[in-house]
Amino acid sequence: MTASDSIPDCRIDNLQKVSDIYDWFDPAVDHVVRRHLKVVPGVSRRTWEFAMIFLALHRAGKLHDGARGLALGAGTERLIFAIADQVAHVDVTDLYQSDSRWVGVRTDDPQELVMAHAPWPVPDGRIRAMRMDMRQIEFPDDSFDFAWSTGSFEHIGEDADFVRHLDEVHRVLKPGGVYAFTTVVSYGSESHRIPNNYYFHPEHFVDLLHASKLRSQPVFDCAIREHHFNKPGLESLEDFGCAAADGQLHAVVAWRRGTINVANLAVLRKDDAAPKVRPEVRGFGETKARLWREADILTRRLWADWQELKPRRSGTDHVTGPQYFGRGAVEVEVDAVDRNGAAIDVAVLVRRPAPPLGRRILTTLQHKPGDGPLIFQAQADHLYALRVSRSDGGDGGTVRLRLRRAKKRVAQLRPVVATATAA
Ligand SMILES: C[S@@+](CC[C@H](N)C(=O)[O-])C[C@H]1O[C@@H](n2cnc3c(N)ncnc32)[C@H](O)[C@@H]1O
Repeated sequence: MTASDSIPDCRIDNLQKVSDIYDWFDPAVDHVVRRHLKVVPGVSRRTWEFAMIFLALHRAGKLHDGARGLALGAGTERLIFAIADQVAHVDVTDLYQSDSRWVGVRTDDPQELVMAHAPWPVPDGRIRAMRMDMRQIEFPDDSFDFAWSTGSFEHIGEDADFVRHLDEVHRVLKPGGVYAFTTVVSYGSESHRIPNNYYFHPEHFVDLLHASKLRSQPVFDCAIREHHFNKPGLESLEDFGCAAADGQLHAVVAWRRGTINVANLAVLRKDDAAPKVRPEVRGFGETKARLWREADILTRRLWADWQELKPRRSGTDHVTGPQYFGRGAVEVEVDAVDRNGAAIDVAVLVRRPAPPLGRRILTTLQHKPGDGPLIFQAQADHLYALRVSRSDGGDGGTVRLRLRRAKKRVAQLRPVVATATAA
């Protein structure tokens, strides 16, 4: 009998699914969050991922005191300790190194770093942490009863890396072993192949699962039910100068710079005798159509009135983050003074939300004190950033930009100075 035996029945039949606010209402999810992760339930993407991995391993009968588990790309995540409470031993791996581009894994001593994050006491020897690439797992064949990873898969490279990783997990799992992992699905027309940070189109994702030696659950459920908390929500307010609010924002369905992204769980098994069936994607088309209608409403409301963007210093310029406006004219109020009395150049930079980004300067507008708002025309499926350049090199004074969608149709840009081809 382990503590996880007291988990109430889970009403989610198929755990291989995307995140949905209704999952938080499930008694089993709520129980794992409170009793095993020991956090106050809140709509945090990672908490859902941890709870779903825990439940998938529990349902597969892998959380018992004789089991050995492997954590991949695990950093110092809380799930390590919740799972270590249930099993004989956990090996915890990541690219721990002092100069990692991931701040959270910068260390020369992975064991010390991981154990320093233990939220409660863990029996000696239960957890062993080490540096390891999840594409090349340095353990013998058939070593583990289960493996998991949370939000790491999308960061390890490209298609060949993803399949290589899954096949390495297959190799080190014992027959019947289970791999539960989370990543990100995008409700667009293709995967966003951002180097070291993919958002997967579900058909691409199931192709990768099917290409590996592991056997997947038969259905990948991408349906998200209608609920106020399932509407696309802003993922970050930092660009709007509201970094403090980011700690409060936990959109289940994230609206991020012209993309709609949702966490998902995959559940795979090492079962070489079972027939290999490509998982069926369910519920994607209907959900995508509804989420985009809701994202359009969000976009219209967001830019209905002036929003102040927080430009960042870049050399002698100030640059805003890229923003999505949908299709229509955008007005820009510039609040900045050039100490030489010269006009200020405001370059409008445009790119697609997903690679190939092809960033370029759409146009450069000029602003002088007393001018009204500048105007440019935005297209749907593009992102726009503004770069402010002053002849005084940008020293002294502030640069403030306020933007909104123009209320009336605007016939032409004004005052246009130049159109360049490269940023
Ligand atoms: C977004 S973080 C998630 C960390 C942790 N799972 C959590 O939820 O807090 C992504 C992690 O993947 C790790 N990572 C990236 N590429 C990796 C690779 N090839 N092998 C192992 N880990 C990798 C990074 O070092 C980082 O810790």
